[in-house]
Amino acid sequence: MNPTATPEKARIVILISGSGSNMVAIADAVKAGDINADIAAVICNRPEVAGLQKARDRDLDTAVLDHKGFTTREAFDQALMELIDSYDPDLVVLAGFMRILTPAFTAHYHGRMLNIHPSLLPKYQGLNTHQRALDAGESEHGVTVHFVTEELDGGPVAIQAVVPVYDGDDALSLQKRVQVQEHVIYPIAVKWFTEGRLTLSQGTARLDGQPLPDHGLQLRS
Ligand code: GAR
Repeated sequence: MNPTATPEKARIVILISGSGSNMVAIADAVKAGDINADIAAVICNRPEVAGLQKARDRDLDTAVLDHKGFTTREAFDQALMELIDSYDPDLVVLAGFMRILTPAFTAHYHGRMLNIHPSLLPKYQGLNTHQRALDAGESEHGVTVHFVTEELDGGPVAIQAVVPVYDGDDALSLQKRVQVQEHVIYPIAVKWFTEGRLTLSQGTARLDGQPLPDHGLQLRS
């Protein structure tokens, strides 16, 4: 996509596993015209999660591919790849998609798959990030959008939002503060990508061709 050419709408496939609030934030930004893209499909690996209904309420195409129907991770990822590719996306957006991905899958979408993770990566990869940040006595916590690579929660960072940790916070209060920022930064990163501004090259995330720092562009609230 060349930003100076006649705008061609990027096609986005969003993968979810649960409540879908990040998917909604992106879908609302598309609907408002802030992101010039089409959401080709919302794909979920769990039937009957709330996010699926939210997608249907927005007239988005949905598909369910239940991982429980597959005996190996490889077989599931292969079927998922075929399903995603049937929508011919420019960008795959992992929005609370709670699966460990195989190297074949991450390689296939190299440079065109983003993830959101609720910590200031590289801190707190994996689960229970809010409680772990509290247990470590952090004064700041946050959320990261990054390109997906083979390393779990480890690819080059596009953008982070930093939030304060307050005395008296528990995991839920901290999660809520972080999630407000998730819904700010994920649409920004998707917009950048669809405008051809955010790229991955030589292992580095770049904005307008310039390498981003290891923590990406950082917003503070
Ligand atoms: C979000 O908080 C996202 O950061 C997290 O899952 C939640 C999904 O919420 N992702 C991860 O933990 C990935 N490692 P949502 O379904 O309401 O968007």
